[in-house]
Amino acid sequence: MWRCPMGLLLLFLLAGQVALGARQGRWRRELAPGLHLRGIRDAEGSYCQKQDLCCHGRVDDCSLPYLGATCYCDLFCNRTVSDCCPDFWDFCLGVAPPFPPVQGCMHGGRIYPVFGTYWDNCNRCTCQEKGQWECDQEPCLVDPDMIAAINQGNYGWQAGNHSAFWGMTLDSGIRYRLGTIRPSSSVMNMNEIYTVLAPGEVLPKAFEASKKWPNMIHDPLDQGNCAGSWAFSTAAVASDRVSIHSMGHMTPVLSPQNLLSCDTHHQQGCQGGRLDGAWWFLRRRGVVSDHCYPFSGHEQAEAGPATPCMMHSRAMGRGKRQATRRCPNSHDDANEIYQVTPAYRLGSDEKEIMKELMENGPVQALMEVYEDFFLYKSGIYSHTLVSMGRPEQYRRHGTHSVKITGWGEEMLPDGRTLKYWQRV
Ligand SMILES: *[C@@H]1O[C@H](CO)[C@@H](O)[C@H](O)[C@H]1NC(C)=O
Ligand SMILES: *[C@@H]1O[C@H](CO)[C@@H](O)[C@H](O)[C@H]1NC(C)=O
Repeated sequence: MWRCPMGLLLLFLLAGQVALGARQGRWRRELAPGLHLRGIRDAEGSYCQKQDLCCHGRVDDCSLPYLGATCYCDLFCNRTVSDCCPDFWDFCLGVAPPFPPVQGCMHGGRIYPVFGTYWDNCNRCTCQEKGQWECDQEPCLVDPDMIAAINQGNYGWQAGNHSAFWGMTLDSGIRYRLGTIRPSSSVMNMNEIYTVLAPGEVLPKAFEASKKWPNMIHDPLDQGNCAGSWAFSTAAVASDRVSIHSMGHMTPVLSPQNLLSCDTHHQQGCQGGRLDGAWWFLRRRGVVSDHCYPFSGHEQAEAGPATPCMMHSRAMGRGKRQATRRCPNSHDDANEIYQVTPAYRLGSDEKEIMKELMENGPVQALMEVYEDFFLYKSGIYSHTLVSMGRPEQYRRHGTHSVKITGWGEEMLPDGRTLKYWQRV
């Protein structure tokens, strides 16, 4: 009968396992396929040289990560099945590598064939015959350098990466994400309404329409890549005002698609439109709700012809109108036509705009939008000059229209107060 202390036996076992582990490592290396079967992928790469690594005989630790695998700088790597680092022959042996370099380009640990492509934000990069990448040089809508410059510059607002904008060019952002045509003289000649403040009347420092009219101010709809802010902002302001003026009896979200597809006189649907035309249409023809006639055009405006108008209305006396068709979708049959009273233009005095907003609800504003607008995340936006020194194609602007729902003030670090509009 043979006995031995338990502790001792355990120690032996442990030692045995360690040895086994090391053997498995050897086998793994021996079984691994050659790294350069189809040629050296990263032929220009500096591996052994960077670490100043050249080992004699077999040293399994004499290794480096290489394109998701392991390469070695020991002599053992120079056998039939080679797992040498690409610069081993040149740097450690002073001879040319026995494998040809692979034709193609490296990106992100992958080899791409000649004419292979990948996207770097909004620019396409193509692998050239000499193994070099060549990338388009378009300005992108999301520009990480600009984000950093804005956030370091103390402009009073923070910039960030909106994932919906990533990969788009600045040009397509200006073309597809805005979409209000600058007003013609006819709009500028629209009657101005003057609201007169009573003597001594003081307006509040802050106001938000959704606090005064709960459940009557609607959330914004997403216009996607449709340059139809003319239709979206008009429908949004009209929706809120219908709710407010009917004292909550009617709270429709009016259909921007109805405007985009049916208000086609001098309008260009998802390629831009005019506010005066939109208001005219809402007054004379009317639109149905967004439930009845939902938005269909998230795709880019260029993709195809405008969708045909699916909803007409006809007069039924006393200025009222009625839809001539059912809703263009199967789950809703409430096809009432909503019409609005004539639109009017406000004077540009901020107090008049505030008073109008407080008394009658959200107002529509036209704004000139610049390249940095697309990066806005929080704070009070104002156009920054971070792109000033860059070529012209980086400094772009377009006309946008938005719904203003309130205002407020914020104390700046230097003690000044900054007033702002709240918009959606
Ligand atoms: C390494 O490999 C090359 C090519 O197979 C061979 O010519 C050379 O003699 C080898 N060198 C050593 C030191 O084994
Ligand atoms: C921006 O967001 C996109 C999508 O979420 C992401 O793929 C990209 O890496 C981000 N870019 C930067 C610079 O953060």
